[in-house]
Amino acid sequence: MRKPILAGNWKMHMTIAEATDFVRNIRRGLNDIRGVDRVLCPPFTSLPIVKELLSATQIELGAQNMHWEEKGAYTGEISPQMVQELCQYVILGHSERRAYFGETDEGVNRKIKAALAHGLKPIVCVGETEEQHDADQTEQVVGGQLRDCLAGLNAHEVTQLVIAYEPIWAIGTGKAATSAGAGSVIGLTIRGTISTLYDEATAQAVRVQYGGSVKPDNIAEFMAHPDIDGALVGGASLKPDFVELVRIAAETSGV
Ligand code: PGA
Repeated sequence: MRKPILAGNWKMHMTIAEATDFVRNIRRGLNDIRGVDRVLCPPFTSLPIVKELLSATQIELGAQNMHWEEKGAYTGEISPQMVQELCQYVILGHSERRAYFGETDEGVNRKIKAALAHGLKPIVCVGETEEQHDADQTEQVVGGQLRDCLAGLNAHEVTQLVIAYEPIWAIGTGKAATSAGAGSVIGLTIRGTISTLYDEATAQAVRVQYGGSVKPDNIAEFMAHPDIDGALVGGASLKPDFVELVRIAAETSGV
């Protein structure tokens, strides 16, 4: 059985003071929810304080990016070991990193290997643009991203990953994919590609989230789909009703 995972990607939001207030406000409610993994992904600056605030809870912590190198002259970067001191998870290859900071599948592949080598669980993001979606290229684009991101990984390593299917046209737009649409990309393209590259057991073992305009009022639909194992939540993870969203996810996931 795959345990559902709900992760809040705060992106570039919240000062240390704001993060402190927010986490104090939601941690009890979030911690009381059973049956799903709960992960907060604040900006780097708030990771230490949020780690401290969550120390008596089962809520886990993730970073939003990291470099693949161990250390060295990489101004502005954070190493896997630095992330590992604070976090259990790391988001890799988010479409905003790809679009604004030139990240490639090859770079994401190196980061995945570095994260796994340091005991971090990568949340690997894939997804097509609106143009590609409209041109019926989703399968080709998402399948290709996945193949390149997974290059050189063995089946056991793949089962350690969380994959987030995030159609770019659904991120921050309020225009979420349908549960059937996302479920079919996840089931056919993502699990299908993993099954072809590895085997069906590996494809069925890996957790795959949906991301893109997930809100308390649509999370139940996504969780009800048998191929969807949770969500990567942006905007709605910055509000106190993120707790409600996670509660609904836990109640509707059937685990
Ligand atoms: P959104 O972002 O929930 O605000 O659409 C999702 C994401 O980018 O992970």
